[in-house]
Amino acid sequence: MDHFDYRDGELYCDDVSATRLAERWGTPLYVYSAKTIRHHYQVLSDAFAPADEPPLICYSVKANSNLHVLRELSALGAGFDVVSGGELSRVREIGGDPQKVVYAGVGKTTAEIANAIDAGILLFNVEAESELERIALCAQEAGTEVGVAIRVNPDVDPKTHRYITTGKRENKFGVDLDGARQTIALARDLDGVVCRGLHIHLGSQITATAPYVEGIRRVLDFLDREPEICSEVRYLDIGGGFGVHYEGKEGLPATQFADAILPELAGRGLRIVLEPGRFIMANAGVLLTRVVTTKMSGGRRFVICDAGMNDLIRPSLYQAYHRIEPVLRKESDAKVLTDIVGPICETGDFLGLDRDLPEVAEGDLVAVFTAGAYAFTMSSNYNTRSRPAEVMVDGNADRLVRRRETFEDQIRAEREIG
Ligand code: LLP
Repeated sequence: MDHFDYRDGELYCDDVSATRLAERWGTPLYVYSAKTIRHHYQVLSDAFAPADEPPLICYSVKANSNLHVLRELSALGAGFDVVSGGELSRVREIGGDPQKVVYAGVGKTTAEIANAIDAGILLFNVEAESELERIALCAQEAGTEVGVAIRVNPDVDPKTHRYITTGKRENKFGVDLDGARQTIALARDLDGVVCRGLHIHLGSQITATAPYVEGIRRVLDFLDREPEICSEVRYLDIGGGFGVHYEGKEGLPATQFADAILPELAGRGLRIVLEPGRFIMANAGVLLTRVVTTKMSGGRRFVICDAGMNDLIRPSLYQAYHRIEPVLRKESDAKVLTDIVGPICETGDFLGLDRDLPEVAEGDLVAVFTAGAYAFTMSSNYNTRSRPAEVMVDGNADRLVRRRETFEDQIRAEREIG
C-alpha cells in the first residue's frame, strides 16, 4: 500500500499533485510519502508482534539514508542497520539510539570499528575472524566490552538477482556454517567481545518465505549442535530482504513472512532482529522527471528525460523494472512502444525499455515508481550532473528534505585545493 494515486487523471502524492511538486521544486525530483513510510513500518511491526519478544526492527540505512527519513523512522521506535562510518554518523546526527544499532559490512576499517565502539552500538555483525580480532583489540583499547553477532552464511538460494544474493556459499558475506564454531569459540577466547547473536542476511527483493525458513532452520540446527559455545547468544538477526511490488503483485504481505518465520523460533528464547530496507522505503518514493526530447530513430520511439542512470541506476545495473507513467494520463490515451531513456552518454542509460507508454511530449512529466529505496542512495554525479532534490509529503504539506545539488557543490572539493 502506498499513497501515490491518480485523481482525475493526475498523479498525487497524498494530497499534493505531482505537477505542483515538480513546479515548486524542479526536476528530476525524488518524492517520498511520510504516511507510506509510517504505514510500512507499522505493518511490519504488527506482523512480527506475536513473537515471544517484540523484534528489534533495524531499518537498513543504505536503502535511503536521508536524515529526514531516518528521523521519521527513529520516532516510530526503529533502530538502524549500518554498514559504514558514514551511515553511523547519519544515525548519530539524528540522535538515533545507539543501543538499537547493528553494524554489518565485509570491510569495516579499524577506525570505523573504534568509532562505533565509542558510539556504544548494540552489535557488530562480524564477517570474518580477522575482523573479530580487530574489534576485540579496539574494545580492549577503549577499556570496554562489545556485543558481536557472527554473520553466518547459511548457503541458501533466495532466488533473486545474482548481484543481490548474499547468503549463498560462494558469496563474500559471513563465515560458512562449517567455520562458525571456530569463530564463535574465538569470540569466547578474546577479551573485549561477547558473542550475543548470530546473523544471516540472504539477499534482497526476496519474494518467497521458504529461503527464510531454510536459513533459520540451518542456524537453529547449528545452535542445537553447539549449545555450549553459544550459551550467550540472545539475538537472531535474520537480516532484511523482504521483497516489494515493482510490476504488480510480486511482494508478499509482512504477515506471510511472519507466519512462516515465527513458528520456527517460538520458545527459543532468542530476540529477533529484522533489517528491512526496501520493504519500508521502495514504494514510499517516486522519481519525477521531465521529458526533454522525443524522437523516432532506427524505428524506435525514444523519450529522453532529465533523469538518467546517474539518478536511478537500478534499471541499468540490475535490469530492474520500474513502472513508468505520465503524471497526467487519460484512459483513452493510445499506447506506443517506447524506450524511456536518460541524458547520459551511454547506451545502458535507460529507465525503461520497450514500454507501452501513452504519447508524451517535450515538457511533460513522467513518474518512475518504487523509487524510494536504492535510488537516491545509489545516485552519482556522472556526466557532472547534480543530484536531484528530495521532498517529503505528509498529507497536504510538502517540504524539501534535501536541496538540489549545485555545480558549486560538485566542484568544491577540487576547487578548494586551488
Ligand atoms: N541487511 C544487510 C546486511 C544487507 O546487506 C541489506 C541489503 C539489508 C539488510 C537490507 O535489505 P533489503 O531489506 O533492503 O532488501 N542495491 C540493490 C539492493 C542491495 C541490497 C544490499 N544489502 C538494489 O537496488 O536492488
